[in-house]
Amino acid sequence: MQTTTDATLVSCRTDSLDTIDADMLWVPVFLADDDDSDSDAHGLEPLDRAVGGALSRARASGELTGALHEQFLTDVVDTAWHTRRVLLVGAGVRDRYNPTVARAAAATAGMAARQRAASRLVYWSPPGTGETGTTQAVVEGVLLGAFRDTRFKTRDTGTAPLQELILAFDGPIDPPAQEEAERGAILAECSNLARELANEPGNLFTPRVFAERAIELVTGPHTTVEVLDEAAIESEGMGLLLGVAQGSPEPPRVIVMRYEPEDPAPGPVLALVGKGVTFDTGGISIKPAAAMDLMKRDMSGGAAVLCAMRAIGRLAPPIRVIGIVPAAENMPDGNAIRPGDVLTAANGLRVEVLNTDAEGRLLLADALTLAQRLGATHMVDIATLTGAVVIALGHHTSGLIGTPPEWVETVRRAADSAGEEVWPLPPLEAYAAQLKSETADLANIGGRGGGAITAAMFLKAFSGGLPWAHLDIAGTAWYEESAPSHPKGASGVGVRMLAELPFALAREGAAETKGL
Ligand code: BES
Ligand code: MN
Ligand code: ZN
Repeated sequence: MQTTTDATLVSCRTDSLDTIDADMLWVPVFLADDDDSDSDAHGLEPLDRAVGGALSRARASGELTGALHEQFLTDVVDTAWHTRRVLLVGAGVRDRYNPTVARAAAATAGMAARQRAASRLVYWSPPGTGETGTTQAVVEGVLLGAFRDTRFKTRDTGTAPLQELILAFDGPIDPPAQEEAERGAILAECSNLARELANEPGNLFTPRVFAERAIELVTGPHTTVEVLDEAAIESEGMGLLLGVAQGSPEPPRVIVMRYEPEDPAPGPVLALVGKGVTFDTGGISIKPAAAMDLMKRDMSGGAAVLCAMRAIGRLAPPIRVIGIVPAAENMPDGNAIRPGDVLTAANGLRVEVLNTDAEGRLLLADALTLAQRLGATHMVDIATLTGAVVIALGHHTSGLIGTPPEWVETVRRAADSAGEEVWPLPPLEAYAAQLKSETADLANIGGRGGGAITAAMFLKAFSGGLPWAHLDIAGTAWYEESAPSHPKGASGVGVRMLAELPFALAREGAAETKGL
């Protein structure tokens, strides 16, 4: 099944609103402040006139309060207007309208456009709401909200996709707004691609298909893709990955994506490593049947890395980036690894596999070793790694852990500026004791307590002492229910923050050389 790469057209316009021809206009509206009892404030008067006073009437009746995600749809009565429908979307307290809120409100608008078959949408921001980053966030929100995955439906294919998003500006367009719009479009498109990859079923999306998709989606003027097959994986000595893969007739692949800036200078090399388990049955330590279907999304971290590399190729940060996706299927056949088996890792460590369902850390460990061989100076891995992180943090934030603290902080800030939630877990050495093995150098599980942390401590043993951070997205990689800003299904988590990271690392390097 193909991924959808015909992106929504995003443009900035300064034409007066009435002359823009679209299916729907959306505008954020705010909770009334104490000193602003009527809707005539804040420059919405011309819009209110165009809708025959419906806006002020809805305000007065209490139907429209401005609470976040609230929707009020009304017709344009002014016959001179080309666009005939206006959607007002609640955006909360005016003073707190920042990129995060703008993205959330915009996602509601994007969802509404999709539901109401509006394939051309205009956004107009009321005066005073154009803070830096808002334009980018609005574009991201609209395109993420309008996402719908109907590729596997032959009958109910829903309404037409959003084809065009027009950003209407009152004054001249600043170059930053134009750039923000482009950035937002790239990041949203790549996040939506990651969602599509993660939604694909295990029978159609195998490690080999994953690799083909990387070649197709990532290869570009500044990016190359290399795929390691079984033989190449063997010669790298990646015994942990081969161990995971040996219970499946589908051969494993390691996808290596490289981004080189225009003038590569010596400096940091960032490695992004994503778990690519295309289906996780648990292997011989098999999972219960309930909700096992969701384990088709156990490659969400790999999808995030693939799609972040596509975004990075377009956004062109000034440092080198390597993306690595170890891809395998975790199945329980007669060749599968058994609990108690000992495997040899690419870095020579011997691992006792006490639970074959703790497979993600095995293939990521070998991928971290490979990243070091390829010249990484800083590493981040991203994985649907543990059920334990869902117990610890639920579904609203990803777990972040690593070392040293400065590098973890850089990752946290990158997530923050990308508008993705992450929360720190403690990388205390004491947890590593839980991974002691009777037989080998270490075991692949650490008992009941602190499962998200012991999984991370396992990975740390393969980080070679480099700055390394780990993102556990088991709770955030998909939405269990639909909400006012997203449908149920894969979330595309990680793409935006990983694409931001090389910019953050480059800034930091520049600050260091200046002695800051
Ligand atoms: N892919 C799972 C983790 C997972 C669970 C992701 C729920 C998304 C939602 C991982 O491979 C796994 O099975 N982990 C085990 C580890 C345990 C055996 C130590 C787990 O969390 O139960
Ligand atoms: Mn597992
Ligand atoms: Zn898994």
